[in-house]
Amino acid sequence: MNSYKQLPNHIAIIMDGNGRWAKSHGLSRTAGHEEGAKTVREITTHCSKIGVKYLTLYAFSTENWTRPKLEVEFLMKLLERWFKSELSIYLENNVRFKAIGELSKFSKSLQKTIKDVEEKTAHCTGLTQVLALNYGSRDEITRAFKKVIENNLDITEENIDASLDTATFGDVDLLIRTSGEVRLSNFLLWQCAYSEMFFTDTLWPDFAPKELDEIIEQFTKRERRFGGI
Ligand code: FPP
Repeated sequence: MNSYKQLPNHIAIIMDGNGRWAKSHGLSRTAGHEEGAKTVREITTHCSKIGVKYLTLYAFSTENWTRPKLEVEFLMKLLERWFKSELSIYLENNVRFKAIGELSKFSKSLQKTIKDVEEKTAHCTGLTQVLALNYGSRDEITRAFKKVIENNLDITEENIDASLDTATFGDVDLLIRTSGEVRLSNFLLWQCAYSEMFFTDTLWPDFAPKELDEIIEQFTKRERRFGGI
C-alpha cells in the first residue's frame, strides 16, 4: 500500500468508456453501465480507505438525456437500484453521500430516494462521495449567478463560489478522465481552475484502485504553482 505523501483533498472523475467496454466484450451498452457501477463502488471504497475527503463522479450529464430512450430509462432504473443497495455500503464505510446537479428533472421517486440517502448518511465523517446527476457546469454556474442576484449580493468570486452546488466541497485538486478522451465535457469548469489533470486510456469498468494509486503518486510529483512562480 502506498504511503500517500500528499493526498489530494478532492478528486473528480469523468467516468467514460462503459459503452466501449461493453462492445469490446460483445455485450449490450447497459451491461457496460452495470459494470461501471461496480467500479464506482470499488473506487469509492478505496478513496474512503486511503483518506480522500471528497470524490466527485460524473454520473449523468445535462446532455445525457439525448441518448436513446431505452438507455436513459435503464440508467434511471440503475440509479434507483444503486441508491437502495448502496445505503448500507455508505454507512459501513462512513461515507457521506451528496448529489449535485439539477435534480428536479428526475422522477419524484428518484428525487426522494436521493434525498433520503443524503439524509441517512449526513452524519458520516469519512469520505464525501458526490454524484453529479443531471449535471452541467454551465447550468450550475448560471444557477449560482441567479442565486447571488436573488440574495442581493455583489457578483464576487466568493459569492459565486458559495452559490455553486459544490459550495462546501472546495476546488478539485485532481481531475481524472478515463477512456482516452481529452476534454472536460462541461464538468466542474469553475472548480477545476487549478486542478491537475490526468487522462488515461483505461475504460471506466477496468479502472482499478491500483491505477488510481499510480495517478496519485504522479500527482504528488507535480509542482502546483497556482499561477505563482
Ligand atoms: C460514460 O460511458 C458513462 C456514463 C454516461 C454514465 C456513467 C454511469 C456509470 C458509471 C454507471 C452508473 C453510475 C452509478 C453511480 C450507479 P459511455 O456510455 O459514454 O461510454 P462510451 O463513450 O464508451 O460509449
